[in-house]
Amino acid sequence: VPVAVGRAGAKAILLGEHAVVYGRPAIAIPVRALGVEAHARPTDGPARLSSSLYHGPITRAPERLAVTLTAMSAALAAAGREDLALDIAIESSVPAERGLGSSAAVSAAVIEATLGACGIRVDDERMHELIQTAERAAHGSPSGLDARTVRARAAVWFDGGRIEPVTVGRDLTFVIADSGVRGRTREAVTAVAERRRADPTGIEAALDELGGLATALREQVSAGARDDIGHAMSRAHTLLNGMGVGDPALDHLVHAATSAGALGAKLTGGGRGGCVLALAADAGAAVELSQRLTRAGAAAVWTTTVEGAA
Ligand code: MEV
Repeated sequence: VPVAVGRAGAKAILLGEHAVVYGRPAIAIPVRALGVEAHARPTDGPARLSSSLYHGPITRAPERLAVTLTAMSAALAAAGREDLALDIAIESSVPAERGLGSSAAVSAAVIEATLGACGIRVDDERMHELIQTAERAAHGSPSGLDARTVRARAAVWFDGGRIEPVTVGRDLTFVIADSGVRGRTREAVTAVAERRRADPTGIEAALDELGGLATALREQVSAGARDDIGHAMSRAHTLLNGMGVGDPALDHLVHAATSAGALGAKLTGGGRGGCVLALAADAGAAVELSQRLTRAGAAAVWTTTVEGAA
């Protein structure tokens, strides 16, 4: 029996995390250096799963793999093949719980591989719904931004649940630095919801400002206005801290990035840990910036370039 393959990549949110949960727009970028590959093959024996976290029968898989199992079941149900036992192997270089979209990327890869093993293909919208089903198992009420971006090939503008390509005027080189602290998206999303109940005016003002920054950022990205993009990122970091999703380890890396000449830096993804995204002045400056972030204690650093028209 041929093995079916599914693939997806990591993502970083340039601006708009948390605000998207409340209907504001966001801009995100695919991170091509990191990805997930899933292989699925029908088996005569019991269904099995193998990944860096677990190797064995699906019925005994740990709770942490709930997202993977939900993704597989949703895809089997979509194919009308709940009877089919699969042997699924997952390889991922996307670190989990770092705000880089690992749950959406794993889900997307597993769903694509599972559907492939059933011999069916679905359109983009159906695929998105299936990833969202698995994402709901991961963190409650996902906006859909991660599910969309892990399958995107270029920077995306996300608004009202849909994406559009973003015009990029000049190359933008980002350094992503991992704080080494696990990000807890579900907790962070809950914390924002609680604050919004306690202080509706304050949180709505922050969400509006983030929405306005994202709208302006779209123009800045298309104009290649790197300094403005950097300022918007740093302002977003301050606003996210005010919403209660920051962490001292993230502030430390944001500070290290700006002291090392980054044009702007912010937490990316759910926050409360996870990664910092910093905009380098240019590709050469990114080398020095990564070294400085490593010396400042980053657990890992990655560089990613969003290619511009000129
Ligand atoms: C998580 O990567 C992004 C959040 O905005 C949650 C979501 O969009 O569902 C924090």
